[in-house]
Amino acid sequence: MLNIAVFVSGKGSNLRAIHDAIVQGTLDARICLVLGSRPDAPALDWAASEGIPTGVISHRSDDTDSAILGLLEEHGADSIALAGYLKLVPPAVVRAFQHRMLNIHPALLPAFGGSGMYGRHVHEAVLAAGVKVSGATVHVVDEEYDRGPIVMQECVPVLEDDTASTLASRVLEVEHRLFPRALQLFAENRVNIENGKAIIQ
Ligand code: GRF
Repeated sequence: MLNIAVFVSGKGSNLRAIHDAIVQGTLDARICLVLGSRPDAPALDWAASEGIPTGVISHRSDDTDSAILGLLEEHGADSIALAGYLKLVPPAVVRAFQHRMLNIHPALLPAFGGSGMYGRHVHEAVLAAGVKVSGATVHVVDEEYDRGPIVMQECVPVLEDDTASTLASRVLEVEHRLFPRALQLFAENRVNIENGKAIIQ
């Protein structure tokens, strides 16, 4: 069973999808901690109402990495899910959780990722490019935004009359089933990282 710390910055619909998969028995895990990059993230209120331990990480202090690592250790986290986390995770935390930290991105990486590509900006860029498909990507986290071995992807069509908001909802629906499935692959020890690629067994 995975002991997952979920990092959030926003609404937390992916956090709830992970929680639902655990409750339904399709994800063999427990959420041991929810960490927010801002105290007013609605995801933190939801976690607290479910009795899940929460914490807030200030990225302004000098000891952000040791503060995060301390909380992860205190709560026995063995893996991390970045579920709409808008900050770059400090390199010391990435190293400590190498190949045990996953991120969900609302587009088909390596396109439409990187610094500044979050939330609405991603979907606006997809629409501006005129591509016909978008989707969601779950990948292993390394020290740069939205890079790292891709574990799972799923496509959605981009429709002629899409707005950033209609496209975001279609992608989000996919995210909610993709992230728990990717985490379950880790729970089953089925992901090997070889030559920078995730090999699923
Ligand atoms: C999702 O689209 C996720 O891919 C992106 O931020 C959004 C978070 O939504 N990184 P939520 O907070 O899980 O509802």
